[in-house]
Amino acid sequence: MKYKVLEVLMSNIGEYISGEALSEKLGVSRTMIWKHINDLKREGYVLNSSSKKGYMLMSIPDAINTCEIMHGLESGLFGKSVYCFEEIDSTNNYAKKIAYEGCDDGTVVVADRQLSGRGRLGRSWDSPSGKGIFMSLVMHPKIPPEDMQLVTLGASVAVVKAIKEVTGISAGIKWPNDVVIDGRKVCGILTEMASEQERISFLVVGIGINVNHEDEDFHDELKDKAISLRQHALKNNMLGEGILRRSSIIKSVLRNLESVYEHLNAGNKSIIIDEWKNLSVTLGKDIRIEIKGTLHEGTARDITNDGRLIVDCRDNVTRELLSGEISVRGMLGYI
Ligand code: BTN
Repeated sequence: MKYKVLEVLMSNIGEYISGEALSEKLGVSRTMIWKHINDLKREGYVLNSSSKKGYMLMSIPDAINTCEIMHGLESGLFGKSVYCFEEIDSTNNYAKKIAYEGCDDGTVVVADRQLSGRGRLGRSWDSPSGKGIFMSLVMHPKIPPEDMQLVTLGASVAVVKAIKEVTGISAGIKWPNDVVIDGRKVCGILTEMASEQERISFLVVGIGINVNHEDEDFHDELKDKAISLRQHALKNNMLGEGILRRSSIIKSVLRNLESVYEHLNAGNKSIIIDEWKNLSVTLGKDIRIEIKGTLHEGTARDITNDGRLIVDCRDNVTRELLSGEISVRGMLGYI
């Protein structure tokens, strides 16, 4: 109910709405409305209260709740069902649980903080409160399991577009799906699949974006490798209204990802691959990768239409990589 009150206030931003009108509209007592208003104030919403005119919403914090995510959401399928948590072990774990229970295609799980956020290759993903976007989507794509990588590549394309739309920052994609700014990682994607008899039962696409992190929010070993949108925006005088609203980025990711999903379900793989190539910071570069304990170096030439990286290696063998972690040669060596 608290967020129903908020929804009405958000739809009348800049205007007073009386306690009586709110209580009639929502079918609860004025005392309950007053209680919810106080709860919203505690969450950081700034409201003017006037005994004659009622309540007016003045400013909105960078909050993660269903109302913030659903208000003005332009996607249709993605976000029809949204689960929001202040704290959870991992949004991917929760998304998998509800996927096994049969939740809808496009269900979204978001948390302000994760206690055991998971990354690729068995790593953990630091997820402090108020800093990042930690979200997972449940999908039932109409594609064969071997094309699963395309969903992940498409998700990285959606994130790059969302970052550009909301913040103006240009990011790129390091194969397969790390979103990077100036060679530092700003977003990671962990896709998990349940399949049966040659078909995907469901996919969980987990997206972690560094939004408001300051230097001290990254562990020492990540300080040179990771970056947040805020850090980049501050350094480049791009922080317009002074705050990066996580819910705005989430909504934009959902809309862009829905369009990727529609292309994939319609069999238009090449659109996703072409978009990925345009945003890639890997193709044409010298890369390094360890395969079964041996270090290989070569030039990343292209990706296949199921997302494998084609590398012309120094030993004159062309290899196709399905997964793993590459280092790309830049001005400061391989990063
Ligand atoms: C990577 O290692 O690059 C992937 C990181 C994925 C992190 C996200 S945060 C939301 C979702 N929940 C998790 O536990 N992990 C993913």
